[in-house]
Amino acid sequence: MSNPPEEIPEWPIAETPARDGIGEDDNAIPLWFNIGFYGLIVVGLLYIAWFEGTGWTQVASYEADVAIAEEKAAAVKATMPTENPYRGDDAALAQGAETWRTICVACHLPEGTGLVGPSLVDPFWKYGNSDEELFSTVSDGRPAGMPPWGPQLGAEKIWKVLAYMETLPRTEEPGMGSPDYQPPGAATGQP
Ligand code: HEC
Repeated sequence: MSNPPEEIPEWPIAETPARDGIGEDDNAIPLWFNIGFYGLIVVGLLYIAWFEGTGWTQVASYEADVAIAEEKAAAVKATMPTENPYRGDDAALAQGAETWRTICVACHLPEGTGLVGPSLVDPFWKYGNSDEELFSTVSDGRPAGMPPWGPQLGAEKIWKVLAYMETLPRTEEPGMGSPDYQPPGAATGQP
C-alpha cells in the first residue's frame, strides 16, 4: 500500500514569507517600460497612417529606382556608337586581328568558317549582321555557347575585332551553323 500523496503547496503563496531572503513584491511598472510600450503603439498608428495616406510601398520605391537607372542606362547607350568606327582603320584592324587570334579562332577558326561556333563568313546570320547586332552578340554573348566578351574586351576592342572579322574572305556557301549546312561529304553519303 502506498501512502496517499502529500499535498504539494503552491509557491509562492501570498502570505508566504520570504524564503532564503527571496520574496515576492508588487512593484509599479517602470516608467521607461511604459514609455516604450505606448510609444511603439503611437509609432505603429503613425506608420499605418503614413503608409495608407502617402501610398508609399516598397514596390513603388523600387520601380522609381529602376526608372532612374534605366534613364541613366539610356543616356549611356545614346553616347555609344551604333556604327563600327574602325572600319578601314589599319591600326585598329591589326589590333582586331590580335584579339581575333587570341580569342575567337578557338571556336570560329582563323578563317571564320566555324568549328564550335558557327561560320562568320557565310551569308547566314542567326542574330543579324548589322553593326549593333554584331556588337551585342559579341558583348553580351548568345545562348547556344557564345560567351559574353564585353566584360573582358570592352567596347573598343569589340568594335576592332568586328572590323577585322569583316575583312575575312567571304563565301556564298552556307557554312557551319546555317540551317541548310551540309557537312563535307554529306551529299555523297561518304564520311
Ligand atoms: C567558346 C567558343 C567561342 C568563342 C571563344 C567565340 N565564340 Fe562566337 N559563337 C560561339 C557559338 C557557340 C556561337 C553560336 C551561338 C548561338 O547560336 O546562340 C557563336 C556566335 C557568334 C556570332 C553570331 C553568329 C550569327 O550567326 O549570328 C558572332 C558574330 C560571333 N560568335 C563572333 C565571335 C567573336 C568576334 C569572337 C571573339 C571575340 C567569338 N565569337 C568568340 C562560340 C564562341
